[in-house]
Amino acid sequence: MSTTNPDVVWAPHAARLADELAAAGKLTEPRLGEAVRATPRHVFVPTYHQQTPDGTWVERTSTDDLPAVYANTALITTIAPVPGGATTVLSSSTQPGLMTRMIESLGLTDGARVLEIGTGTGYNAALLAHRLGDDKVFSVDVEPDLVDLARRRLAGLGHHPTLVARDGSAGLPEHAPFDAIIATCAVAAVPWAWIEQVRPGGVVLTDLKTAPGAGSLVRLTRVDAERAEGRFDATYAAFMDLRYTPGSNPAGFRVERDHDHAEYRTTSLDPNAPWTALLVWFLASFDLGPEIAYGYTIPDGTIPAHRQTAPTASWIATPDGSWAEITLAADNGQHTVAEGGPRRLWYLVERAHHFWTDLGQPGWDRFGLTTTPQTTTVWFDRPGSAHTWHLPGPPHRTTPI
Ligand SMILES: C[S@@+](CC[C@H](N)C(=O)[O-])C[C@H]1O[C@@H](n2cnc3c(N)ncnc32)[C@H](O)[C@@H]1O
Repeated sequence: MSTTNPDVVWAPHAARLADELAAAGKLTEPRLGEAVRATPRHVFVPTYHQQTPDGTWVERTSTDDLPAVYANTALITTIAPVPGGATTVLSSSTQPGLMTRMIESLGLTDGARVLEIGTGTGYNAALLAHRLGDDKVFSVDVEPDLVDLARRRLAGLGHHPTLVARDGSAGLPEHAPFDAIIATCAVAAVPWAWIEQVRPGGVVLTDLKTAPGAGSLVRLTRVDAERAEGRFDATYAAFMDLRYTPGSNPAGFRVERDHDHAEYRTTSLDPNAPWTALLVWFLASFDLGPEIAYGYTIPDGTIPAHRQTAPTASWIATPDGSWAEITLAADNGQHTVAEGGPRRLWYLVERAHHFWTDLGQPGWDRFGLTTTPQTTTVWFDRPGSAHTWHLPGPPHRTTPI
C-alpha cells in the first residue's frame, strides 16, 4: 500500500478531516493542519476490525470506505484471542481529533524533541514527524510486529523517525532528554522514568487510570529534579492500558455474586452514575482499589444472545471477593442493592458521589496530579489543598537524576 497508488484518491478525505477537526476546535495550529492533510491514514490503517451486534469481529478494508477511515473515530487495528474464547484489543488508531488535541497541548515549538509511548499504527508518529522533522521524533511500542509495520509505512512516505520495540514504561533513556513525552496508552501511575527523561519545564502527557475506566488525560510539567505537576484535561479520554508483555493482556479475576448470602438495601443513586459521571468513578477508585471488575447483569445471558437482551442490573467487584449489584429498575426512585464479601462497594461509590456533588460537580480540570520519585498525589483545585489523595505504588525510578 502506498500513497503513490493513483487509484486511491485520499487527499480530499484527509483535507475534509482537517477541516472538520478545525471546525470542532480540535486543530488550531496551521502546521499540524498541514500534517493531517498530508498524512494518508489508510496507509497506516490498511484494515481494521469492527464488532457486529452479535459480538463477532469482522475485518474491514480501508480503501473500500475511505470516508470511514478519514472520520474522527478510533479504529481497532490489532486483536488477539484470550483464553475462554473472548478477544482482546492490542492496538488501535486513536481518534485523529484526540491526537491533534494532545499534540497541540504539548505546546511544541520548532526544534522540540518528542517521545511517543505507543507507536501503534505509526499515524501519530507521522503527524509528529511532519510537524517537527524525523530527527526530533522517537516512538516505542511493546509489540515488535507493530513497530516493524509502522517503520515500513513511515519509510514508504519518506519519514524516518526513531522507532524502538520495547516496553515504553522505561522511556527511551539513550535518546533523552525530550521536550515532551506523549503516551497513547494508559498508566496506573506515571512512571518516574518519563519525568526524568523530559528536561526541566518539559511536559509528560498521558492517560492516568487508577483503575479500569477511572482517570483521564493529565498534563504534567517537570517543575524541578524531584517533582512534576499538572492538571487533568477538561475532556475525558480513554486509552488502552500499557502492557508489560507483547501479545497479551493480563487475565482478569472473577467474583461469584452469591445472592443467597448477600445483604440487601436500597439506594437512590442511579446505578449508571459512576459511568455517566466518570469523575465519581475516579474518586471511588481511590477507595475501591486498582483492580475492579464491572459490568451489566444480563438475565440468562449467553454470548452472543446477550447482545439482544436488556440488562437488569449493574455490578462491581474487587479481588478481595467484595461485590455489589444494583437493579436498574427503581421503585419510587429506589434501586435495590445486593452486596457481599468483606467490603460494601456500592457504599464507597455513593460516598464518592456525595463528595463530588458537595464540591459542586466539578469537571476534570479542577483536579491535578503531583508526582515525585516517591509519591503520586491527586489534588482538587491546587496542590496541597484540603482535598488530596495519596495513591499507592510510587513511580519507579530507573536512572539516577
Ligand atoms: C492506542 S494505541 C496507539 C495508537 C498510535 N499512537 C497510533 O497513532 O496508531 C496504544 C499502543 O500502545 C502500545 N503499548 C501498550 N503497552 C505498551 C508499553 N508497555 N510500551 C509501549 N507501547 C505499549 C500498544 O501495543 C498499542 O499499539
